[in-house]
Amino acid sequence: MTVPRDFKEPARCRPDLVIGREELFAQAREQLNRGGSVLLHGTAGIGKSTVLRALATECGEAARTVLRCSATESESHLPFLALADLLGLVLGEVSDKLPAAQRTALESALTGRGESTLQRDGLALRLAVLSALRALAAEGPVLVVADDVQWLDPASAELLGFAARRLGETPVRMLCAVRTDGPEYDRHLRALPPDSLAVRLNPLSRAQVSALLDHRGYTGLQRSTVRDIHRTSGGNPLFALELGRALAENPTPPRPGEPLPVPTSLRALVLNRLGMLSEEARHTLLVASAGARPTPALLHTAGRENAEAEMAQAAALGLLATEAEGPAVRFAHPLISAALYAEAPAQERRAAHRALSTAASDPIERARHLALATVGTDPEVAARLAEAATLARDRGAPSMAASLG
Ligand SMILES: Nc1ncnc2c1ncn2[C@@H]1O[C@H](COP(=O)(O)OP(=O)(O)OP(=O)(O)O)[C@@H](O)[C@H]1O
Ligand SMILES: [Mg+2]
Repeated sequence: MTVPRDFKEPARCRPDLVIGREELFAQAREQLNRGGSVLLHGTAGIGKSTVLRALATECGEAARTVLRCSATESESHLPFLALADLLGLVLGEVSDKLPAAQRTALESALTGRGESTLQRDGLALRLAVLSALRALAAEGPVLVVADDVQWLDPASAELLGFAARRLGETPVRMLCAVRTDGPEYDRHLRALPPDSLAVRLNPLSRAQVSALLDHRGYTGLQRSTVRDIHRTSGGNPLFALELGRALAENPTPPRPGEPLPVPTSLRALVLNRLGMLSEEARHTLLVASAGARPTPALLHTAGRENAEAEMAQAAALGLLATEAEGPAVRFAHPLISAALYAEAPAQERRAAHRALSTAASDPIERARHLALATVGTDPEVAARLAEAATLARDRGAPSMAASLG
């Protein structure tokens, strides 16, 4: 199969808005240019719809017909809704090319008249979708663009899958996106033709997050702030933008060493799961989120006696990463740690820092916790901070020294 001439010119048709993703574009473009289909998958907010739109615009130029649907969670129980979005506008064009039984089945499914169900109209409906796509493709290439496939109503997903498996060399390409946390994107491939390419969207790099923030008007951020945003967002563009917005709106920037303010919009993503933790386990995780490199031993020393059992509870809820990586306590996503901290009442946070100010083994770390455990100025704290600042300077860490001094 020949690859069209423009295949190696990524920037040509790509809207400037999309930052990074060069490799992903190249892979998807190559697959689509040779007539194949693509499933983009990744976590919430990672940028699937953004890439999907850009690819659809680019590839749509070579298609005679572009069929689109974008499922929503609240409507996923409505049978044939996605199919109606996809085929509703072209029904007039194709219906007289279908055998009568298929036409009736498709029309009653799409219009909601005649109580159509997949059980009742079974084969006629399946064949009707296939025939409709073939009829359209006979006039010129077809591109099917489907976003949020995880919410596709099951009837539409089934019908699309049936057609996709039988299209063969018919020029119908599918470009889909699905929100998943892990390998379960697999089952969504069933709605696409065999040999479709599944491409995962990975986190953005720090430089890309920085470019994204710049691009959206959050300019002039300190490098350390961009680093914090990148870390807390885990390279997720939606999270990074929300964190940037919260910082821009926040009249009091976080104190040095304190996590970034997490806006309510993002806390909501993890609050459900946090709500399932026992009160004691939440306290333990709060201490972990306040610590720099928390370990079970540190949590013990900080007075969390049942740290192991509570961590197991948190891991079972998906709040902590389960894969063993040395003795460190690792949150499943940095945002969980930041949201937990942001949600905790100020006095609980101070108590966590107070516990860590004696438990941490590093003197600079202890001084930092002491500062965050204290409201106002306390002469003893001030003296300890000055001491730690000298120590930090001696170790050649001027920015840490500045934040403590
Ligand atoms: N590569 C990128 N360049 C510029 N902006 C991006 C990029 N990726 C994502 N964004 C921005 O991040 C936000 C989230 O992106 P998007 O809506 O594409 O994510 P998604 O993966 O489709 O999320 P969901 O799972 O909720 O559907 C949007 O504001 C989008 O403009
Ligand atoms: Mg999306």
